[in-house]
Amino acid sequence: MQTLKLSLVRNLRDALTMREIRNECASFMTKDTGEIGVFKQIWWWFFRKDKLHLRCFLGYYTFFPVAYGIIKEEKDYVLLSGGVLQYWRGKGFGRQMFCYLIDFARVNYIKDIRLEVLKTNTAAYNLYRSLGFKKTGTRNKGAVIKMKL
Ligand SMILES: CC(C)(COP(=O)(O)OP(=O)(O)OC[C@H]1O[C@@H](n2cnc3c(N)ncnc32)[C@H](O)[C@@H]1OP(=O)(O)O)[C@@H](O)C(=O)NCCC(=O)NCCS
Repeated sequence: MQTLKLSLVRNLRDALTMREIRNECASFMTKDTGEIGVFKQIWWWFFRKDKLHLRCFLGYYTFFPVAYGIIKEEKDYVLLSGGVLQYWRGKGFGRQMFCYLIDFARVNYIKDIRLEVLKTNTAAYNLYRSLGFKKTGTRNKGAVIKMKL
């Protein structure tokens, strides 16, 4: 198996790398924030990330950053999100990354673990089901499925 190495996003360079991966995954996002520009990412890194209570991770295969993951802390729960660059999908990296996010959340937060997925995103939905997430509801007229571990 090809092993994914996860590390925290610690500096602006990491944040800009995360932006590139995230932008490639933009059409799969449940919140329509579209593509994030360089200046927006810089502003976000310096002024917003702490206020939003985010932990961000990059996933490396050898030297290549191929995936990103985010844990967002809300009042009573944490929300997971992330993605893998298209070229590297289907190789087990998504599963490794979400397993890592779940373990990290379990160790660091005593809260529910939740996520949201577009109804049309079969790959992500299958992955989440196989990790033990259960559907708890929908929003946006059924277009977005809410799940909880
Ligand atoms: C969803 C995503 C993270 C999965 O990552 P991945 O590295 O491609 O997935 P993996 O190779 O680790 O496979 C894990 C499981 O996902 C599911 N899966 C992956 N690709 C799939 C596909 N094309 N069709 C159906 N199920 C699929 C399977 O259940 C698979 O388990 P299996 O290999 O035992 O069958 C990845 O496809 C991705 O980044 N998509 C775009 C961004 C995105 O959708 N992010 C999530 C937003 S909610």
